Amino acid sequence: MDKALAGVRVLDLSHVQAGPSCTQILAWLGADVIKVELPGRGDITRSQLRDLPGADSLYFTMLNCNKRSITLNLKAAQGKKILTELLKTSDVMVENFGPGVLDRQGFTWEQIRDINPRIIYASIKGFGPGPYLECKAYETIAQAMGGAMSTTGFEDGPPTSTGAQIGDSGTGIHAVAGILAALYQRSSTGRGQRVEVAMQDAVLNLCRVKIRDQQRLQHGPLPEYPNREFGDEVPRSGNASGGGQPGSALRCHPGGPNDYCYVIIQPQIWPVLAKLIGRPELANDPAFNSPEARLGHLDEVFSIVEQWTMQHPKFEVMRALMEADIPCGPVLSTRDLIQDDSLAARGMIVQVKHQQRGTFKTVGCPIVLSDSPVEVQSSPLLGEHTYEILGELGYSGAEIEQMRADAVI
Ligand SMILES: CC(C)(COP(=O)(O)OP(=O)(O)OC[C@H]1O[C@@H](n2cnc3c(N)ncnc32)[C@H](O)[C@@H]1OP(=O)(O)O)[C@@H](O)C(=O)NCCC(=O)NCCS
Repeated sequence: MDKALAGVRVLDLSHVQAGPSCTQILAWLGADVIKVELPGRGDITRSQLRDLPGADSLYFTMLNCNKRSITLNLKAAQGKKILTELLKTSDVMVENFGPGVLDRQGFTWEQIRDINPRIIYASIKGFGPGPYLECKAYETIAQAMGGAMSTTGFEDGPPTSTGAQIGDSGTGIHAVAGILAALYQRSSTGRGQRVEVAMQDAVLNLCRVKIRDQQRLQHGPLPEYPNREFGDEVPRSGNASGGGQPGSALRCHPGGPNDYCYVIIQPQIWPVLAKLIGRPELANDPAFNSPEARLGHLDEVFSIVEQWTMQHPKFEVMRALMEADIPCGPVLSTRDLIQDDSLAARGMIVQVKHQQRGTFKTVGCPIVLSDSPVEVQSSPLLGEHTYEILGELGYSGAEIEQMRADAVI
């Protein structure tokens, strides 16, 4: 069966996480992704956080599945010539170099468009035009400058980064949306276009509800927040749900670091919950029996529920609450997740064969298309497909050997 993006060629000049997370999804959706890497070293993550000596790191292998790898020195004249040939035969190019890097190599957007007017040129940077344009960016810088850090953590603690890589992989997903829209538009215009995504903007988009709350602050305190004092900035709100329905992470038995269950109290479930936790009298108590009444003392409300959750393991708490149709979720550790049979059965935790590592586990594709199933395949070794790809461009074995001698590949 053909994949959704069969026939689409992506020239992947990306590295680290933001770009590779984007191109890995395109590869899973069926595009032929050619990763262009620095000869001798490749993507820096191949050797970062290495767990097995001499083998590509999990950082690299988990972000570069289903791609081909070619090494190419973009600073050599022949490297630029080959890149130009690859641009001519590609539909999409993705890059997340530091500001100005590609321009310095002689590949501005205008020049790329001249080489191939149909190409979609996706560029990920830390920041859009403005005072920060020239700044390099990493995950946590984007979290700091996109609104995530100031709103994450507890009231009495410092700004905190979230474990979800919203600055890198979150930006990568935004880039995928832009690329697919541009491909769709090309089918009617025949023209490519530039797609720009800034990490700060992607994080800000994911912090949309906090900007909602910033505007609500002018009318007074935010009642659903657990905080007692409010200034003129949205405070860190711990584990408050952030939506209209109050929620909290409640301790469970036996009290380990991840023995918690997150519980949401929808208006209609209060009588059921009160009965379940052995406090049926609270169903009709005027201090508890309406969302407005509970809002004034959510700490107390959740502490009463917690007295019940603390007596049971988190999965038992979940079972009991689910049976009563009460929204909840146990806090799953990374060990819980990597060992979860149902995630493995659905292909969300996948075991992949790798030439150097034997096998490694990775997270599968969260986008499921009925007519384009994803088969997760190994990440390529550095330059594994250099001969193959140059051969496709028409170079002979002798020419390729000469390029190797000249340090072009
Ligand atoms: C991530 C980041 C901070 C890394 O910075 P860095 O390690 O200094 O890497 P750069 O992207 O600036 O590139 C460094 C050099 O490698 C060179 N290089 C990379 N691939 C090459 C290749 N195949 N051939 C020749 N040179 C190559 C570049 O040309 C550049 O050289 P120059 O500065 O002399 O022009 C930076 O790339 C960045 O800000 N990217 C945009 C934001 C982003 O995506 N950040 C998140 C990453 S997960």
